Amino acid sequence: MNNSHRMASGTPLPNIDQTPAPQTFEAWKQAVLHGTELTLQHTLPASNETPARLHEAMRYAVLGPGKRVRPLLCHAAGEAVAARCPALNVVAAALEMMHVYSLVHDDLPAMDDDDLRRGRATVHVQYDEATAILVGDALQAQAFITLSQAPVSAACQVLLIRELAIAVSSTGMVGGQMIDLSSIDAELDIAQLEHMHRMKTGALIHASVRMGALCAETTQENLDRLDRYANAIGLAFQIVDDILDATADTATLGKTAGKDAKNHKPTYVSMLGLKRSRQLAQQLGEQAQQALTTLPGRTDPLHGLVDLVINRLH
Ligand code: IPE
Ligand code: IPE
Ligand code: MG
Ligand code: MG
Ligand code: MG
Repeated sequence: MNNSHRMASGTPLPNIDQTPAPQTFEAWKQAVLHGTELTLQHTLPASNETPARLHEAMRYAVLGPGKRVRPLLCHAAGEAVAARCPALNVVAAALEMMHVYSLVHDDLPAMDDDDLRRGRATVHVQYDEATAILVGDALQAQAFITLSQAPVSAACQVLLIRELAIAVSSTGMVGGQMIDLSSIDAELDIAQLEHMHRMKTGALIHASVRMGALCAETTQENLDRLDRYANAIGLAFQIVDDILDATADTATLGKTAGKDAKNHKPTYVSMLGLKRSRQLAQQLGEQAQQALTTLPGRTDPLHGLVDLVINRLH
């Protein structure tokens, strides 16, 4: 990344794209996490910039210890269709900002009413409700600002912005959240539940994969293969989230366990039971692996991420 590429706020991004590609999946993952962290640090407005309380709260929300699954998927997809591309860190940072906006709003009293996230107080508890709403709003805008500065062609920037906007729109993530909240105590059938999960969580995961590949301006054929991977892993991700809500403990999750049952949410666990939910997640993982047979670049990260999503403990 060249140093003339300045973010809206903060210092120029460090040159983190010249390191040789790491060999093992674990080394690859650590390198991507490091690049994501540095990029987020530099891309988010500084905490002493006015209004300082808002910027401090944005940084509190984003720089907490998240798994960074969407940045990892974005990088992995980019590398599956091309060599490492300098735009991937910036695009991955935009995806994480959008995801964190969704978490901050999801935790609000008007939504899931959670006080713990990533092992720390949620933003509305640590600050206040109005600040949490504004943190979400500002992170959403910051994600698009960040994409508009990605070091790709202007045409590619528009594609990336459009992809992300559609994914989080009323027919994607936000629509899924609406259905989720309208489904408390409701009897959904399995098709409706799947549709809700694909919207509220699958859409942004799908966009994370596609946006990594779009940075590399790849072929439609490669995008189609990655679509199959992303659709499978996107649904699997929320099924595993439902399973963990019912089976893991609060300390491991870093968020309050058992909230879905407490909030009367229809989930894969409440509808299919644990055993069938686990089987379905495994099947979707296999589907995702199978979609990766013929891609031109390195695919071990995409394979490794299937394992990470399906077998994660939090
Ligand atoms: C949690 O997402 C919310 C869902 C979409 C299920 P993650 O499990 O990716 O949360 P973090 O980013 O690691 O905290
Ligand atoms: C959240 O789903 C989906 C989005 C934030 C869009 P959940 O409500 O199940 O996520 P957690 O369990 O609170 O992380
Ligand atoms: Mg929710
Ligand atoms: Mg929630
Ligand atoms: Mg959940």
